[in-house]
Amino acid sequence: MVFSKKYGSIFSIYLMGRTTMVITNPRVFPTIFKDSKLFDFRNFIEGLVQVVLNIPKAAATSKALKDANHAQYVKHLTGSSVYPLTEAFIYSLLNKINDEISHLPTRGTTIELVGFSQKVVFNASCKALFGSTCPSDIRSDVFLFDEGMHLIFANFPSFITSKYIKARERCISAFMKMLETGMQNPNALAASQDQVLIDEGFDLQTRGSSLFGLMWGLQTNSTQAAFWCLAYLLTKTTSDFRQKLFEEGKEAFKVSLTSTNTLTATPNIPLLTSAPYLSALFNETLRTTSGTLMWREVSRDTVVEDPESGRKFLARKGGLVSLPARHVHLDEGIYERADEFRPERWIESKDGTRDGKMGRIGLLPFGGGVSLCPGRFFASHEIKSFVALMLQLFDMEVLDPLPGLGLNQYGVGVMAPTGKMRVQITLKNEWKGALKA
Ligand code: HEM
Repeated sequence: MVFSKKYGSIFSIYLMGRTTMVITNPRVFPTIFKDSKLFDFRNFIEGLVQVVLNIPKAAATSKALKDANHAQYVKHLTGSSVYPLTEAFIYSLLNKINDEISHLPTRGTTIELVGFSQKVVFNASCKALFGSTCPSDIRSDVFLFDEGMHLIFANFPSFITSKYIKARERCISAFMKMLETGMQNPNALAASQDQVLIDEGFDLQTRGSSLFGLMWGLQTNSTQAAFWCLAYLLTKTTSDFRQKLFEEGKEAFKVSLTSTNTLTATPNIPLLTSAPYLSALFNETLRTTSGTLMWREVSRDTVVEDPESGRKFLARKGGLVSLPARHVHLDEGIYERADEFRPERWIESKDGTRDGKMGRIGLLPFGGGVSLCPGRFFASHEIKSFVALMLQLFDMEVLDPLPGLGLNQYGVGVMAPTGKMRVQITLKNEWKGALKA
């Protein structure tokens, strides 16, 4: 905000050894998204995965691999084809919650909501995508790597990055081990992505780093967003809003206890997808917590015009263009009382904005154009399921204030919380049969 007030809605900075044109006016974004050859995401990501994930150049730059992966994303992550992954996630999520609660004292217990959300969402999505032999014990290494990935990318000296690189290497080894013994009941997306790597003749190390890359994309944003959604719901919404969301969750899940006193659910995914209050919470949480920067590499000299001032700027071949989503999300001209968490705005107006006319460019946590996040539907299913199930199962009393947003991860995606946030959780009376203690 500060920069654009001073320098206008387009300005250039020198970042990581490259000239970067920063564009803050979302009305310019469609021009950038539309011409994906001129403003190229793939070139940028090729460089990133080689440095950050240690994927060899031959795999990172293989067009056949990239085309095959994209075809798989469309095939397994869009429309109703994502349902098997969502169902597997809900199944694993309930299993994990059953595990966590089976020894809870009847009067409830205190949990750290950040760690708890991370643990259950990480575990369930890992199992849903990679199957029962997924290395879910690498969770803390995945988050350690995530914390320092931007430093690895920016080529910081090894005495700063070595602990993050070591965490990454442990994760890749765990994936290689899983591949050596074979994935058990993986989702078709993980199985087919690995098959493409095998068909193209890549070795175990490359397969391990590539699947770890998929796991990183799957995990880091969703686990943070799951925490924020529940934390905001508990601290910043009205009881009327919570009640309506509770009713939606009840309808979409139909939770019950089995004859062996285990929690189970019959999810209705279309209902979950369209539920207005869950969707409003999801959108408002991503609006306020996302620090997404969309990066593109300029493939030939071109002129970009600032529509407000009419000034023209030269974007040079080889330079970067950066589009900060957060700048749009917190723009008072676009969102009324933009700095307030007010999920009702998404019920009152179609796109949550003042004039209801921004459409998709008003909310950009998932990027845009050809590289628009392919996991966005699954992410919304995971997060809504987690929130709706927690609300069905527990009475929750917040003991700490909402943590702050960790700005050191600005640019990577959903920002990490700076605290742990303790919450007293008590299983609701109707589910007490699930307690084994
Ligand atoms: C709240 C959760 C998530 C957020 C905020 C998020 C955000 C993003 C963003 C910002 C991009 C880059 C888009 C661009 O620059 O235009 C991206 C790409 C990507 N995301 Fe997500 N993501 C989330 C969840 C997921 C999940 C659950 C998966 C996997 C199932 C996933 C897989 C990917 C992949 C594979 C790409 C690269 C796409 C490409 O190469 O074109 N993401 N995501």
